[in-house]
Amino acid sequence: MTPETTLVQWLREARRVLVFCGAGISAESGIPTFRGAGGLWEGHRIEDVATPEGFARDPVLVWQFDAARQHALPTVSPNPAHEMLAAMERHYPAFLLVTQNVDDLHERAGSRDAIHLHGSLDEVRCTLCGRQRPLGSPPSLADVRRGVLPHCACGGLERPGVVWFGEMLNPTHLRSIEKFIETGWNDGPAFLVLVIGTSGVVGGDYGIHSLPAALGARVVEINPEETLLSSEVDLAVRAPAGALLGRVWPEVGSAEHPAAR
Ligand code: APR
Repeated sequence: MTPETTLVQWLREARRVLVFCGAGISAESGIPTFRGAGGLWEGHRIEDVATPEGFARDPVLVWQFDAARQHALPTVSPNPAHEMLAAMERHYPAFLLVTQNVDDLHERAGSRDAIHLHGSLDEVRCTLCGRQRPLGSPPSLADVRRGVLPHCACGGLERPGVVWFGEMLNPTHLRSIEKFIETGWNDGPAFLVLVIGTSGVVGGDYGIHSLPAALGARVVEINPEETLLSSEVDLAVRAPAGALLGRVWPEVGSAEHPAAR
C-alpha cells in the first residue's frame, strides 16, 4: 500500500478526527509560509513585528506588517485542502480543526468551528480596556504609514488580534482541545490525527498530536517536506495538502459513514 492508499483507508475507518494545521495549508492559496526562502519572516525580525515588546516600541511597524496581510486576504481563495476539511467537519461524528493560521480561509471554505490557536487577522483588541471586536475593513496602508492607527471607542490604541511570540494561548481553546482528546481515550485507531502543513517549530509541544498518539490514535503528517514532527508520526504523506486532499477525500467522503449504519 502507498502512503496515500493507507490514508484513504484510515480516513474511512476513523470516527474521531483531530486536524492540526499550519501555514502550509494556505500555501496553495498563495499565502506565503513563515520560514524559509520567500517566507513571511524573511526581511523581518520576529521580535519587531510579532511580540508585545515590538508593538510597545513601534506600533506603526507592527500595524504595517499586519495591515498588509489583512489587505491581502480578499485577494486569495480557499484551496481544496480547506474545502475538504470543511467537508470532513460535516462527515465525522467527532471532528476538531485546530489551526495556527490567522487567515480566514477555513471559514470561507465552510468550516464552522475552527479553533484559531494563534488568533485572527479579522479581529482587533484594545490595549487599554481589552475589548475585542471584528476588524471589519482593515486600516488603509497610507493611514498606517502616517501613524493613524485603529482606536477603540474608549480611546485606547487597538492591536491586531493575533497571538504574538511570548504570549499565552487562549485557555478556553486549550481546554476544548484537551476535552476533545480525552473524550477519545477509548477510540484507539478510530481516532485519527492529521498534522498538515506545519514545520512544528512552534507547535511541537502543545501535545496536540502526542497525547492522542499515547492513547493509540493514528497520527498522519501531510507535508511535502520532512519536519521536526516527522519522527513522531505513524504515516507521512509527502505531498502538497490541497492537491492530496482534493484527490483523497472524494474517495472517502462519498461513502456512508460506518457510524451511521
Ligand atoms: N501543503 C502542505 N504543507 C506545506 C505546503 C503544502 N502545499 N507548502 C509548504 N508546506 C509546509 C512546509 O514544508 C513547512 O513544513 O508548511 C510548513 C510551514 O511551516 P512554517 O512556515 O514554520 O509555518 P507554521 O508551522 O504554521 O508556523 C507556526 O509560527 O511563525 C509562527 O505564528 C506563526 O502560526 C505560525 C507558527
